[in-house]
Amino acid sequence: MTDLVRLSFSIDVPLAERLEKMRAATSYENRSEFIRDLIRDRIVSEEWENNEQALGTITILYDHTRRNLAEELIDVQHSNHAIILATTHVHLDRDLCAEMIMVKGAADEIRRMANLLRRHKGVLHGSLSLGSTGGRLAVKGKRHRHKH
Ligand code: NI
Repeated sequence: MTDLVRLSFSIDVPLAERLEKMRAATSYENRSEFIRDLIRDRIVSEEWENNEQALGTITILYDHTRRNLAEELIDVQHSNHAIILATTHVHLDRDLCAEMIMVKGAADEIRRMANLLRRHKGVLHGSLSLGSTGGRLAVKGKRHRHKH
């Protein structure tokens, strides 16, 4: 258990009610953990805003029967191989493919690559989930070491 500090602060009633609604809607039973996670979300947002090292997942949906498209999407990935950790391809039906590309690198590089993939004609949808490598979230001296 890490050291805890008990904070006390004041917010106006509408904001407190809004917080409670948000907590209830996300099924958090513990208000403290909900607020801790809001702060962590803010920290990760700042990592992305400041172009720090980040972890992301790019998900694209495309029609592989479209001429040259699959090859072009693979070319983009090979040009950015240094930031790609893994790619999973799913054949959704006869024509449609989904690809989940897990990436780690500077936030701007990840965004640039996501846009390169998304802008291709035939890519029906592209999204980027903004994750963290955990650098600013981990508690010093308390990091787990996984044995593989
Ligand atoms: Ni496929």
